[in-house]
Amino acid sequence: MRSHYCGELTEKNIGDSVTLVGWTNKWRDHGGVVFIDLRDRTGISQIVFSPEIDTALHQAAHKIRNEFVLQIEGEVRQRPEGTVNPSIPTGQVEIVVHKLTILNESIPLPFMVEDDTDASESLRYRHRYLDLRRPVIQKNMHIRHRASRAFREYLDEQGFLEIETPVLTKSTPEGARDYLVPSRTNPGLFFALPQSPQIFKQILMVSGLEKYYQIVRCFRDEDLRADRQPEFTQVDLEMSFVKRDDVMTVIEGAIKKVFSDSIGVHLSESFPRLSYHEAMDTFGCDKPDLRFGLKLKDVSDIIKDSSFKVFLDTVSNGGIVKGLNAKGLAGYSRKELDDLTKDVQGYGAKGLAWMKIKSSIESPIAKFFPEEVLTALAEKFEAEEGDLLLFVADKEGVANDCLSRLRNELGKRLDLIREGDYKLAWITDFPLFEWNPDEKRYEAMHHPFTSPMEEDMAKFQSMDISLSIRTPDSELSTLRAQAYDLVLNGYEIGGGSIRIHKKHIQNRMFQLLNISTEEANEKFGFLLEALNYGAPPHGGIALGLDRLVMILANAQSIRDVIAFPKTQKAVCPLSNAPSSVDEKQLKELSIKLDIVEL
Ligand code: AMO
Ligand code: AMP
Repeated sequence: MRSHYCGELTEKNIGDSVTLVGWTNKWRDHGGVVFIDLRDRTGISQIVFSPEIDTALHQAAHKIRNEFVLQIEGEVRQRPEGTVNPSIPTGQVEIVVHKLTILNESIPLPFMVEDDTDASESLRYRHRYLDLRRPVIQKNMHIRHRASRAFREYLDEQGFLEIETPVLTKSTPEGARDYLVPSRTNPGLFFALPQSPQIFKQILMVSGLEKYYQIVRCFRDEDLRADRQPEFTQVDLEMSFVKRDDVMTVIEGAIKKVFSDSIGVHLSESFPRLSYHEAMDTFGCDKPDLRFGLKLKDVSDIIKDSSFKVFLDTVSNGGIVKGLNAKGLAGYSRKELDDLTKDVQGYGAKGLAWMKIKSSIESPIAKFFPEEVLTALAEKFEAEEGDLLLFVADKEGVANDCLSRLRNELGKRLDLIREGDYKLAWITDFPLFEWNPDEKRYEAMHHPFTSPMEEDMAKFQSMDISLSIRTPDSELSTLRAQAYDLVLNGYEIGGGSIRIHKKHIQNRMFQLLNISTEEANEKFGFLLEALNYGAPPHGGIALGLDRLVMILANAQSIRDVIAFPKTQKAVCPLSNAPSSVDEKQLKELSIKLDIVEL
């Protein structure tokens, strides 16, 4: 139905007869001449209806409204001087229309189809077909397509087989809440939707497939944030006969191709590696934004020689004092500092201590610090006149969490983030176990199929599993895992590990997690049984495709790179899911509803 796309006409086409199709993006009448911006997925062309050229056509153009679907035939000409729009590729030319067909009409719109919309999210999602017409979201869909294609091409070249795994399955070990599906043929029994294909991909390795991948939907019923959706997509892979470095090498190659194919960015260097401990020490979190410095420093030792009770008490109670140098912020007013303090208290800190580096050090707490301690602090932070030192004293976990969030906030405020900068890194040597303070027990930090580090294997095997180790600081917390995360600009975009492939190690793992043999068999028996039959050494990783594409597309939320996302309340305003079902359907499922208020 078309000879050209709307977005591709340039001066080279002047004099050409063209046929275009598209949507009416904008309609305006300038002194009797009607101008329409015709939009298709490639961009916009300006089309012109002049009464001098064709009165009937000009009359007809007055019937057109926003989002009417048109087919036009016309001739490309240079735009008259003063009407050139250098900000779009087709801005030099316009098309004088000779023939118009209105292919379809549109009723008045709930919101305008334009990049800068102030329509609410629920309105946008209810009419997602209109929302998806917005060029910015269209661009995101294109980037997503190119990213998935690049993964497929790369993994295919590397010999990976694309294999599908079941969606109606059993609970997987990621530890979020499951989405459940009742079974009609087995009354009272439920499938769980997979939180990942973890168990099946390991079974594929036992099956001798050696290199598996899948671009796969995963389901997790967890609290939603800007980088989390209840259903999201993983680029999931697993390999046999590999070490950690082999998996990392595959991923580095894939990510480089994805960047170059999807947004034309060439990443040349290999991704730096930081151990979990280095990351926590220096940045306070395991997904540091490495686009800027603002490194955290532990000053617990230095402040021992002060008389500031808050700091001294924290340290003597096993906590730490940590801080960072907010470069150049010594000019912050009292109010700005109070606001910053409130922010940090909102993250969970008790307070925020500050020192302004001026000709002398200005701080309400300076009087508690002898001169040499102040000097040592300034040196530790390489502070210069004009800087602002900020400190949090608390338990290590709280101090790290608050300071890392403060660091991210300051990174933005100090304008330290260069647009188009992409900083990838591997975080390695994660702890094998993580203390869950609510349930007062250890959990696998990644998942219970993750192998301990070779170096820690002897300790892992011989460790005493008496009750004394079931405290947050027991020896269990010192064991490290062969797990790795990939981080990009402050987001965790992937995580994986080398797995346990020997039955006795896997049993030991459950033992240390205080999971009984019965429970392990009930949950993961089919994998445990498979491990009895010559399971090869294997490992893998899953990348969060939505998060990665969000960063590639420079979007604010993963919802902007998912065609049909769910809202913050995990509903789909377009389809109105979830919704109630017929009594008949429930009956077939042998289900009787008794809704209890929680
Ligand atoms: P993990 O649970 O770390 O590992 O998930 C892998 C990656 O998936 C992304 N992700 C999410 N993205 C959007 N919304 C969510 N709710 C969400 N949850 C996770 C993240 C994360 O890094 N089976 C293991 C992988 C393995 O060991 O091979 C797994 O699922 O980017
Ligand atoms: P106070 O003696 O409680 O008035 O606190 C003096 C200063 O220390 C204030 O600026 C507080 O915000 C700050 N402060 C209090 N508790 C902490 C803490 N745990 N860590 C860092 N600063 C703190």
